[in-house]
Amino acid sequence: MKTVFRGRDFITLQEWSKEEIDTLIDVSFDLKRKFAMGIATPYLQYKTAMLIFFEQSTRTRNSMEAGLAQLGGHANYLDTSTMQVSHGEVAKDTAIILSSYSHALACRNCFWESGNKYLRELARWATVPILNLQCDLYHPMQGLADLMTIIEKKKATKRLKVSVIWAYATSHKKPISVPLTQVLLFPRYGIDLTLAYPPGYDLPDWVIEQARQNARKHGGSLTITDQPAAAYRDADVVIPKNWGSWVNNQNNAVVDELLESYRHWKCTEEMIDLASEQVLYMHALPADRGNEVEDAVIDGPHSIVYAEAENRLHTAKAIMTLTMGGRV
Ligand code: CP
Repeated sequence: MKTVFRGRDFITLQEWSKEEIDTLIDVSFDLKRKFAMGIATPYLQYKTAMLIFFEQSTRTRNSMEAGLAQLGGHANYLDTSTMQVSHGEVAKDTAIILSSYSHALACRNCFWESGNKYLRELARWATVPILNLQCDLYHPMQGLADLMTIIEKKKATKRLKVSVIWAYATSHKKPISVPLTQVLLFPRYGIDLTLAYPPGYDLPDWVIEQARQNARKHGGSLTITDQPAAAYRDADVVIPKNWGSWVNNQNNAVVDELLESYRHWKCTEEMIDLASEQVLYMHALPADRGNEVEDAVIDGPHSIVYAEAENRLHTAKAIMTLTMGGRV
């Protein structure tokens, strides 16, 4: 069991070995159990994390703030519209200065083709770990919580059919970081992953190549289809979710002709009926109800979205405990 993570950046799970991810999951379950039993976990007493948000958040912000308080520390919420970054202060200056005040810098920056670069620039200059709260490419906190939830509900992951399925939405042009993270991560756990999307909503080629390598190494598989029914059929877990056409079209417009031509890519009870009887419906949330998914599904017996969202707390605490704390 790998146990020494103090000071490590958490930007993408691709940079963490499977053994290390196993430890993160193990610690997440331990923290979840202790939280349920009311056992104090003051592993990060007097420690501070800076939470730098370029975008809105409900789960990520609050799991980090509540989580660090429960670990005995304090999280500073920083909205970049109120920071000097909005006047052009560079990542180097922000990273060096906020490092000197704290024990981790956590950041959400989903701007296409600059979010991940901003986090990497913070990491270049920071003297404390950089924790990715979602960028244009990766959402490792969500990916870890999703994996924990699948393990919790299904016990074994090997040979599970998990389908990541594009869905229609108009709420905002969503990043590709959630499906990208799932496609890279799940085949490392022996999962048979099906990725379904209509033409125009591709993930980058390098992601597909890395996902195939991960599958080869760990006994999972990756199937790509533009037929949603093929993804739903006999699936053990379905994750229908919208993402933007960023790879093919960098325009910020939320709704366009291409999107409107795929209104029928919705998770309905009819589609769920194609899946395994015990199928689980997951979504990182927020969901665009009525567009991505029918209420009957997200509020129905197959849905585990609230358990999935709850696990954001336990996994965030595990990541902070191991990267900000550790050996005394
Ligand atoms: N899933 C997720 O990251 O939710 P928030 O955008 O609310 O943080």
